Amino acid sequence: MPDARYAWWQTGVVYQIYPRSFKDTNGDGIGDLPGVIEKLDYLRETLGVDAIWLSPFYPSPQADFGYDVADYCDVDPQFGTLEDFDRLVAAAHRRGLKLIVDFVPNHTSDQHRWFKESRSARTSPKRDWYVWRDPKPDGSPPNNWLSVFGGGAWEWDESTEQFYLHSFLKEQPDLNWRNPEVKAAMFDVLRFWLARGVDGFRIDVAHAFMKDPALRDNPPNPHEGTFHKPMGEYDTQLHLYDKAHPDIHPIYREIRRLIDSYDPPRVSIGEMHIYDWEKWVRYYGEDLDELHMPFNFALLNTAWEAAAVRATVDALEAALPEGAWPNYVLNNHDETRFVTREGAAQARVAAVLLLTLRGTPTLYYGEELGMAEVDVPRERQQDPWGFRSLPELTRDGCRTPMPWDASRSAGFSDAPPERLWLPLGDDYKTVNVEHELREPRSMLHLYRKLLALRSESPALHQGPYCPIDEAPEDCFVFLREAGDEKILVALNFSSDAQQVALPTPGCLLLSSHLDRDEEKVEDTLTLRGHEAVVVRLGG
Ligand code: NOJ
Ligand code: CA
Repeated sequence: MPDARYAWWQTGVVYQIYPRSFKDTNGDGIGDLPGVIEKLDYLRETLGVDAIWLSPFYPSPQADFGYDVADYCDVDPQFGTLEDFDRLVAAAHRRGLKLIVDFVPNHTSDQHRWFKESRSARTSPKRDWYVWRDPKPDGSPPNNWLSVFGGGAWEWDESTEQFYLHSFLKEQPDLNWRNPEVKAAMFDVLRFWLARGVDGFRIDVAHAFMKDPALRDNPPNPHEGTFHKPMGEYDTQLHLYDKAHPDIHPIYREIRRLIDSYDPPRVSIGEMHIYDWEKWVRYYGEDLDELHMPFNFALLNTAWEAAAVRATVDALEAALPEGAWPNYVLNNHDETRFVTREGAAQARVAAVLLLTLRGTPTLYYGEELGMAEVDVPRERQQDPWGFRSLPELTRDGCRTPMPWDASRSAGFSDAPPERLWLPLGDDYKTVNVEHELREPRSMLHLYRKLLALRSESPALHQGPYCPIDEAPEDCFVFLREAGDEKILVALNFSSDAQQVALPTPGCLLLSSHLDRDEEKVEDTLTLRGHEAVVVRLGG
């Protein structure tokens, strides 16, 4: 029975689908919405997640693979139709799965009719829907802002002789949220999808769609880097004025009021590239009346060492105001896959961590198989970030097709491998769903068991987090407790065996190696190299 004190998005686990890469049903080499419908039983019954977050499937020229939206209220024919979407909502809900969609407020596509109108003339009624400015007297752009994807953030428009702002590609002009008509139109977009039954939104660039109204120059950056990874020229500035403007908070309060007016409860999750806990927590709202959860990306840039990971979790717990709900992420469509960042053995320990911490975990498709980053040859690369900025910033390697079986296109598509939008990984004959279901100790079985354990255990999905100080240096050990259930999680970050003292005897519920079920433990627990265990204390 679900516990009424907690919402579904607190007790459940979210699974991110990148629609182009999940399952193709019409043989064009690109995943689609009917493909997602086909795999719902996998997600719910086989794997055991509670909610899906779909990256954008809206009409789009695909300059940034859907994050350049040309119509917020429709489905791109590449992915299906609105009817397919309605079928998906119904089919997900029938299985008890929630559906979260992406909301992209910072920018539209340059092919959106709003932008076409806006750019048509300085006198267009939609001119002010985007950020247009005159050049400086010397003809240069209005300020020094940079595009995340490389180069300057201003594009010159020949015919109307002004610059427009684009924080990402020039094909992604920034909307002007200070114009009340823009806000009203974007709230209508939220209402459109809420009325179609979606259970919430993942908000793109949630920290940056309000900027300094005076468009002041960013100061130079005296440190190295500004983000969680080196971003080339973008790192040369402190992004003081082009993101995180406080005027965003009243908008989140309004979005929250809208979302909370729907029943059953819906969720808002914001993409939040803010790496200062104090600033990050503000997006929950002073009265917890803004985002339900700003995404917490801290584990993406924490060194994979026991002390560092514990410090990150402790810092988050300390920063959270009473009642604010934590969340964790190891992978997404913008990041090098964990297996490649840290290693395959480490990924099993990370799976145990992610699914036993306090707070909502978000998985990324293929994470449950231990998919590694694919080295996509130059001639098959797609991501504009890799072309326009540093080549190593390409995100193609984490967006390759989901391998379902060992057939020639991995059961992802009937198209031949060379016609898939991105190539398969070399290891797909063994790293695929069918194969891993047959292998009792596979990564897939580890995720399945962890998900089942988390959903059955109130301590794991509700209980407080309590770190244990007396752990060996290379181990991170913590307790989760609810009612009379007491669970201890012990993670060994080293390749050497470690001894962990237990407060009371217990029984092993799971080892990341999947070979110690039901083992009784007395006062000392021995962990093998890169082993993580979940122990029920007291029985
Ligand atoms: C963040 C998204 O996650 C990323 O994929 C996209 O390219 C940018 N925002 C721009 O929308
Ligand atoms: Ca397709």
